[in-house]
Amino acid sequence: MDTMGTMRRTHYSTALTTEMVGQEVVVAGYIAKSRDLGAVIFCDVRDTKGIIQINFNDECSAETFEKAKTLRTEYVIMAKGVVALRESPNDNIPTGKIEVKVNELKVLSKAETTPFEIKDDINVKDDLRLKYRYLDLRRSTAHEGLIVRHRLAKIARDYFDENDFVEIETPILVKSTPEGARDYIVPSRVQPNRFFALPQSPQLYKQLLMLSGYDRYMQIARCFRDEDLRADRQPEFTQIDIEMAYVDEIDIQTINEGFIKRAFKEVLDVDVQTPFMRMTYKDAMENYGVDKPDTRFEMKLCDITECVKNTEFVVFKNAISAGGSVRCIVAKGLADKLTRKEIDKMTDVVKTYGAKGLAYTRMTAENITSSFEKFLTEEEIKAIREKTGAITGDVIMVVASEDNDVVFASLGALRLAVAKKFELYDPNKFNFLWVTDFPLFEYDKEEKRYVAVHHPFTMPKEEDIDKIESDPGSCRAKAYDMVLNGVELGGGSIRISNPELQQKMFKTLGFTEERMQDSFGFLIEAYKYGAPPHGGMAYGFDRLCMLMGKKESIRDVIAFPKVQNASELMTGCPDVVEQKQLDELYIDLIEKK
Ligand code: AMO
Repeated sequence: MDTMGTMRRTHYSTALTTEMVGQEVVVAGYIAKSRDLGAVIFCDVRDTKGIIQINFNDECSAETFEKAKTLRTEYVIMAKGVVALRESPNDNIPTGKIEVKVNELKVLSKAETTPFEIKDDINVKDDLRLKYRYLDLRRSTAHEGLIVRHRLAKIARDYFDENDFVEIETPILVKSTPEGARDYIVPSRVQPNRFFALPQSPQLYKQLLMLSGYDRYMQIARCFRDEDLRADRQPEFTQIDIEMAYVDEIDIQTINEGFIKRAFKEVLDVDVQTPFMRMTYKDAMENYGVDKPDTRFEMKLCDITECVKNTEFVVFKNAISAGGSVRCIVAKGLADKLTRKEIDKMTDVVKTYGAKGLAYTRMTAENITSSFEKFLTEEEIKAIREKTGAITGDVIMVVASEDNDVVFASLGALRLAVAKKFELYDPNKFNFLWVTDFPLFEYDKEEKRYVAVHHPFTMPKEEDIDKIESDPGSCRAKAYDMVLNGVELGGGSIRISNPELQQKMFKTLGFTEERMQDSFGFLIEAYKYGAPPHGGMAYGFDRLCMLMGKKESIRDVIAFPKVQNASELMTGCPDVVEQKQLDELYIDLIEKK
């Protein structure tokens, strides 16, 4: 094996151009491919920017040529040579017209056969890729995700800096407070039986910074939540977190629209139109069944409860009499494609959201087949057709439930599944919107109490302040989410800056005076010493990177992500620790039953 000696890289692969033909250069990287044609050996060298072909032939020394014969994929090399035009150009890569004719080769590291090939379209199980994540990251598609992430972080820092925001770091070892998701907790050695939590977000600290006289705060902040993983959720994730004083909702939204506009222009050269569309939470639920609608396509929900309010059909009748509803979506022009078999698959989709079934009417040019119309009267069928506007070629898909949450969630998911399956939207479109006027509280059926929809520090709408104690369910919040193509990209709110109102809030959430003081006494006290009105928001930074990088999962934009059971496969954690470590923490382990 060689050392670099005095040889140094002069150019990245993509810096080499046809204008440089004849120039001596040094390139470095991994062998992506090598072809030994006897008299000539071609290798593709992959560096962090791209690929360049290097060429060994009778112009190089016998020693170099012999060494070139030993090259295998993933060997790390450095090669000095002259830029030349390729005999057979490759139009698929930017450097495809040129190559480097090598006269000196250094083999800096050999490589064993990798557990999978390092190329873009590999069909390898995720677990294997993540166990060897450092190899996985050598692939250019994986690389791209992290580069987009880097650029976005830089743009965020620049943009918010130019708008007078100051980046301030907040602690990672914090107090565990109730509400929100489950905390990750960390035992204290110095104070036995005492615990820190890892922050779910810098929420309380950023509010306190507003009380410290910093008008505008931002931080690219790591957050930790012990919750179940999904494609857009990790236990450890990153926020672009901001907070501003002397503002109302519109000011916060406007400054963030500016950031998005800038980021999309600089990274993707896409012009985002501002201001974004605004939609109330109520309209989002009624029309799309979810609070993060994908507005790239229509297929809105339609309430047909009124059309069947006197029906004898028990499925609809029971749902309505128990206070629920009957709603549907109409898949326009899909009657031929949404076959019985496809409808069965869609039934599985709604069932995962608690629906008992999916009723349908398929109106092809030949005939109408329906799973439920035989139970309805002529007038009822006519009323449904009129209300939905369904015509020949369409499919009506209906969910009825005594629980409206089930109706919304299942139709919302069905709408997305149909659109995805039949490609009803342009994947290159970016549809932004603000969802506003969220409810302040929601009733938690398991805990049998109200919980905060956003968090307990969220300001109610002025007109609802009086109802916090008397009618919590009807209060709306000064809270908003930024939604992009059906993904909740970020969310925020105006905060309560009045200590009495904050106490009322905790009471409605079921806190005793003592628990309130224990958990949030420091915060309530802080607001007694002068507090400017303030609010903010946080982006899911990973989600923003995922959408801008056109990736399927936030894992693709996180260097070392966790898998489904919240472990990291490469290093193998969480893991056991030594008895001595446990002893120092006064921790006894008990067998899991
Ligand atoms: P919220 O809890 O809505 O608000 O979080 C803000 C944004 O963070 C992203 N996000 C996640 N991303 C990946 N994995 C997760 N587990 C995860 N959880 C949330 C989402 C979400 O919109 N402190 C408040 C913000 C504020 O009020 O200013 C907060 O954390 O994109």
